[in-house]
Amino acid sequence: MVLIGKIGYLIMIIDSHCHLDKLDTSHYADGLAGLIAAAQADGISQMLCIGVDTDQFEPMMSQIKEYDFIHASAGLHPLGVKDLDCLNLLEQQAQHDKVVAIGETGLDYFYQQDNAALQQQAFAAHLQLSKRLRKPVIVHTRDANADTLTLLRNEADQTLGGVIHCFTEDWAMAEACLNLGFYISISGIVTFNNASALREVVKQIPMDRLLVETDSPYLTPAPYRGQQNEPKHVRLVAQYVADLKGVSLAQLAQQTSDNFTQLFLTPR
Ligand code: NI
Repeated sequence: MVLIGKIGYLIMIIDSHCHLDKLDTSHYADGLAGLIAAAQADGISQMLCIGVDTDQFEPMMSQIKEYDFIHASAGLHPLGVKDLDCLNLLEQQAQHDKVVAIGETGLDYFYQQDNAALQQQAFAAHLQLSKRLRKPVIVHTRDANADTLTLLRNEADQTLGGVIHCFTEDWAMAEACLNLGFYISISGIVTFNNASALREVVKQIPMDRLLVETDSPYLTPAPYRGQQNEPKHVRLVAQYVADLKGVSLAQLAQQTSDNFTQLFLTPR
C-alpha cells in the first residue's frame, strides 16, 4: 500500500494479463511510459505482459525491459498458430529472466475450429515446455472445454500448473480446472450486462485461486466500454469481483496479489 497524504492509502492491485505492446498510447505525451506511469499512479503494482507470437516477442521485451515490476510471458496464441516451426525459438525466448510464464496458449473453437488439430499440438507443446522450464502456463479456452481438459489431464502431474485466463466458462469447467490445481483469472467481462452466469461462477471460486486481469487493450470493463482498455482498469474488475465475493477491495487486492506471487514468482 502507498500512503496518500495523511488521510488514506492506495490499494495496490496486480494486472495478471495485459498486452502492453498492443496498446495505442498516442494519447499519452510520452507514450507507453506515460500509460505505465498512469497505471502506477492508480495503484497497479505489477503487470504481466503476455506474449502471443515469437515474431512479436523481442519488440515486446524491448518495450518493457526497463520496468522491473512488469513481467512477461512467451507463447503462441491459439488464434495465431500457423505451424509449429517456431517452437525451438519459443523455447529460447521462454528462458528469458523476465519471462515468468508460458503462453498464452490453449484452444479457441469459437473463432477458429478448422485448425483444431494444430491448436492442440501447439497447446500440448506449451504444456510440456511449461513443465520442463518450471514456469506456469497461461491458458485461453473458448468453446473447447472437453479438449482443453483432455490436454491438461494428459500432462497433469506435480509440475503442471497455471491459470485459465479471462475465464468465461461454466462452474463445471471451473471446478475441473481447480481440481487440476489451476488458478482462474477474471477479466472485465464480469462487468458486462450479459455475464450473469459468469458472475454466479465467480461467487464460487475460492479466494485463494483467483486472479484479476484486464486483457487490455481488449475487454474494457463497465463503465468504459467502447474505449480502449488499460491496465489501470484492473481496479474496476477487482472492485466488481470484491463486491460479488462480499469482501473489501483491500482484501481482494491482497489475496489476488498473494496468489499472483505464489503462482508466477515462487519457484516451483
Ligand atoms: Ni490475452
